[in-house]
Amino acid sequence: MIECLRTREWRPVWEGNQLSGAVSTAGTERTTGRIITRYSNEDENSNLSCGGNISYLRLEPGEKVLDLGCGRGTETLQAAEAVGRQGFAWGLDLTPRMVELATERARSEKVGNVHFLRGSMEEIPLADAALDAVLSNCAINHASDKLAVYREIFRVLKPGGRFVVSDIMTDTPLPQEIKEDPEAVAACFGGAITVREYEDTLAAVGFAELDIFKERRYLKNGYEMISRTFQGRKPLQGKGVN
Ligand SMILES: C[S@@+](CC[C@H](N)C(=O)[O-])C[C@H]1O[C@@H](n2cnc3c(N)ncnc32)[C@H](O)[C@@H]1O
Repeated sequence: MIECLRTREWRPVWEGNQLSGAVSTAGTERTTGRIITRYSNEDENSNLSCGGNISYLRLEPGEKVLDLGCGRGTETLQAAEAVGRQGFAWGLDLTPRMVELATERARSEKVGNVHFLRGSMEEIPLADAALDAVLSNCAINHASDKLAVYREIFRVLKPGGRFVVSDIMTDTPLPQEIKEDPEAVAACFGGAITVREYEDTLAAVGFAELDIFKERRYLKNGYEMISRTFQGRKPLQGKGVN
């Protein structure tokens, strides 16, 4: 996955649903490396999350669900329990150590209907329309290409499938030097985009209507951040943008 990121030197920039240009992703490798380092060094008892959204997903027995940026797999394991033996839960994370810890937990807790994958949420290694539900807790802000992430969520959901995400955003854009600072991105705030950009991204992909479950404002390094938990649904018919 890191190899894939390395070969991609430019990525498109979207304003609303218009392609407005391209930026170099030369910094992506640096950012990705910092994220992996940071999460490899996390204390096993530290709290990584920013929301907690599993209850809003209302999982049913037999459903298939994916947790993006699953970390140590706390919510993936809860999801596996909620969908039961007829269902299945996957957790996806960029950091090998997190995948290792989550896999070890599943083994020691004898949870059979779960699998942890190493990879990037910008290229989800699952088939089209494979899932009933996607969840993600405080992870999408780390991804440099949020449009790619939501396109992937749209692709892997079945028609009518839903996602519940907790993520970080802002009212006004963060300064460019913060956005480009791998430490700030790894610390769960530098990668935040504005509410407007976020909602435009979701609309461009085809998630037109959102339900906001909760929102909290707080200061991080002097910047006002918004932590929001929300739901979207893939329409039963029609296609997202390509
Ligand atoms: C703040 S932690 C949240 C972990 C977990 N969801 C929780 O709430 O405890 C963010 C996680 O996202 C992962 N991550 C960051 N960028 C990612 C990407 N592009 N694809 C997949 N996982 C990523 C990190 O490795 C880390 O485990």
